[in-house]
Amino acid sequence: MHIVVTGGAGFIGANFVRRTVDTRPDVRVTVLDSLTYAANESSLDEVRDRIDFVKGSITDPAVVDEVIAGADAVVNFAADTHNDNSLNDPWPFLDTNIRGTAVLLDAVRRHDVRLHHISTDEVFGDLPLDTPERFTEDTPYRPSSPYSASKASSDHLVRAWVRSFGVRATISNCSNNYGPYQHVEKFIPRQITNVLSGARPKLYGAGLNVRDWIHVDDHNDAVWAILDRGAIGETYLIGADGERSNREVLGMILEAMGRPADDFDAVPDRAGHDLRYAIDATRIRRDLGWEPARADFAQGLADTVNWYRDNPSWWSPGKAGVESAYARREASDV
Ligand code: NAD
Ligand code: DAU
Repeated sequence: MHIVVTGGAGFIGANFVRRTVDTRPDVRVTVLDSLTYAANESSLDEVRDRIDFVKGSITDPAVVDEVIAGADAVVNFAADTHNDNSLNDPWPFLDTNIRGTAVLLDAVRRHDVRLHHISTDEVFGDLPLDTPERFTEDTPYRPSSPYSASKASSDHLVRAWVRSFGVRATISNCSNNYGPYQHVEKFIPRQITNVLSGARPKLYGAGLNVRDWIHVDDHNDAVWAILDRGAIGETYLIGADGERSNREVLGMILEAMGRPADDFDAVPDRAGHDLRYAIDATRIRRDLGWEPARADFAQGLADTVNWYRDNPSWWSPGKAGVESAYARREASDV
């Protein structure tokens, strides 16, 4: 089997490539990644001699055409992914997440290649705090941010190409991932690397917003379950029953790192900040037999803290730039 992994130098994509190379020696992997600020080529160092790597954008029809010709499947992780950045400048999100997905769809249609499109639970908007309600595959789309609206658009495009042109595609919408190789702009790595650099963690607003955390390896195992056994045209929600408030997660990080519980700064809240995400993953568990293997969040978080502690050369080059951008944003919000 030959798969093309777009966005394979980013957080989830690099973990997917590493896991695939380690566990599926029969699968040939080609990574297509334009290496934006969010990519880190060194995440692929240990597998680099066992994959093909192409630097290029999913928005470039010629490159996409050449890379996917003859492949069996494309797994599309490539996206602009950070909500805060999409509030500052939505345009790259519209270009990569919407137009790039359309370019991929056009190419897989012409070459009759299977596509698995990686999406997010944020397409459903948010849920109230403290209700038992969860997202299912039937929840209507109600995205809040430019990022989530662009991902919602990409999902609609995939469904349109399936229905109108018979493209062989599947979609998954996953909740918040954590684990190694995640960019330091994101919540968990930002707080861990703040503590490691002697800075205080930063909590948006009162920290009551809830995210449904899943270890990145569990997400990627679910993607393989869909590639192996998923029904063409189907959508699968992926989550591991990991709901926690940001305040609670930050408390766990501080405790794991031996810091006092109040050793953080409350900073201005994100505009339009979604309150709560929660996934009902019944369909993928029932139909594909997938189960999260790393559902012990405290253990996964401790492993993640240790990974960032052990790998400063991976995250420290970009850290100061990310923090100065956040500081400028916080100053302009006051
Ligand atoms: P990331 O920001 O860490 O990585 C994105 C990767 O895509 C980078 O390597 C970047 O260089 C590449 N890329 C960006 N634009 C590109 C383009 N035009 N052409 C080719 N490559 C391009 O993102 P991530 O957190 O790994 O997310 C991967 C996918 O999973 C995204 O589609 C995201 O919407 C989705 N997702 C993420 C989460 C999460 O918690 N991180 C949860 C659910 C779904
Ligand atoms: O739900 C899936 C989504 O999860 C993915 O589609 C996105 O690509 C991914 O970035 C993530 O989106 P979030 O906006 O939930 O993740 P982020 O890490 O930016 O923030 C998580 C929560 O933490 C959110 O409620 C905002 C809050 N936060 C974030 C940062 C960076 C803070 O309180 N402080 C911070 O410094």
